[in-house]
Amino acid sequence: MDRTAQLPTRPARPPVAHDPAAPSSPHLRAARVLEENWTGTSTVPSRGLYPHQWSWDSAFIAIGLRHLSPLRAQTELETLLDAQWADGRIPHIVFNPSVPLDAYFPSPDFWRSSTAGRAAGAPRTVQTSGIVQPPVHALAAWLVHRADPGLSRARGFLVRAYPRLAAWHRYLLHRRDLGGGGLVSVVHPWEQGMDNSPCWDRPLSRVTPAPAGAFRRADLAHGSPGDRPTDLDYGRYVRLAADYRDRGYTDGTDREAGRGGGGGGAGGFAVEDPAFNALLIASEHALARIAHELGAAGPARHGRARRLTAALVDRLWDPAAGMFLCRDVRGGELIPERGVSGLVPLLLPALPRELAAALVRTMCGPHFGLGGVTRLVPSYDLLGEAFDPHRYWRGPAWFNTNWLLERGLRLHGAHGRAAALRRALVRVADASGFAEYVDPYTGEACGATGFGWTAALTLDLLHARPGRDGNGVKAITGGDRG
Ligand code: SER
Repeated sequence: MDRTAQLPTRPARPPVAHDPAAPSSPHLRAARVLEENWTGTSTVPSRGLYPHQWSWDSAFIAIGLRHLSPLRAQTELETLLDAQWADGRIPHIVFNPSVPLDAYFPSPDFWRSSTAGRAAGAPRTVQTSGIVQPPVHALAAWLVHRADPGLSRARGFLVRAYPRLAAWHRYLLHRRDLGGGGLVSVVHPWEQGMDNSPCWDRPLSRVTPAPAGAFRRADLAHGSPGDRPTDLDYGRYVRLAADYRDRGYTDGTDREAGRGGGGGGAGGFAVEDPAFNALLIASEHALARIAHELGAAGPARHGRARRLTAALVDRLWDPAAGMFLCRDVRGGELIPERGVSGLVPLLLPALPRELAAALVRTMCGPHFGLGGVTRLVPSYDLLGEAFDPHRYWRGPAWFNTNWLLERGLRLHGAHGRAAALRRALVRVADASGFAEYVDPYTGEACGATGFGWTAALTLDLLHARPGRDGNGVKAITGGDRG
């Protein structure tokens, strides 16, 4: 196993399966993407479209990278954690100063983290965004540790990561419980990561878009506009981010989020999302494992994870839909849209059995079509009015959510469906040139190719040995069920 963090980088070239010069196996092709996207200290999601370090991308990437270079996987997470703010938040982008400002929007001069974020404890030496992304990091850290415990212990990887990860979870649980029900709220669609999901249409409709001339998108230079969010959505994203920045990236209270005109930390957008919270809970279980490894108090964290699971069920489960929905904190009601986010809690070991069974039925029913009309689980309801098979998070299938669902299926005993999904994921990822996302019916590539987490999670699936802890499920959740 290669332990070097400094493998040579090559110029970007998407590894398409039928390219005669491409490596001869999916494993080698996926590894090549990760090599091409490595910058020396972290991995870009995509050389063109996303040329910096993204928070949840890095966590998923580290999960795959651990199979190639455990040292590089540790470095990936350490680079991200080095950009943590003093209030505990892990920013959603860590900017690479050698990348020109106009390569990506919003650039560091928009976020102004080291000045606008000073009171919230933004680092002085590195530029970051001021919002967050889903907390997959403790889960990733634990899996990376498990890949080479000897190296991890020798480097003090977990000893250094644990207090930072604990502070990250504290920030979310203490500063972001905007609804007052024990769950974390996101204050921008970019925080939840599924930027233009139809689940946000209702809460976003209250936001006045920034004028089109006030900013210049860089994303449209890297792909089809039909695969990307609309200009109207962008105007709203910009308004929310600018308002949050102008308030010094401080977070509101539940009362402000519920009643105030500008509360909720970012202009009144505050949503409790099932996937964001489920990933926090999965990471709490992982933190418990890490604490145990370090001789600290693990059981208390498992208890907290179980209490959070109960809060998730209490606040976001919709029996009629047979899945979890998002809650609009400002209006107080559940948002009647079926997004893949509402299936992700299948990942949780303490989920009641009947809810897990209902989630599997919903995933395989007419709204998501797994095992029937779709090759992979789409990001949004096939029957929903807003469904679009190519536009970002409004229908296409994404590899990270499908990877999470594969784990959930396996965890809850649906081994046949998990194996079929695993095979489909590897085939579609490889055939699409490790696309950012795909048409859920055909597997046609959308967005960028040579995408970091697609390659990384494919590698992880290729290394999986179900039932033998090969993919870490038992290592995280063993003994926690029921
Ligand atoms: N996903 C967003 C983008 O498209 C921001 O994180 O740039």
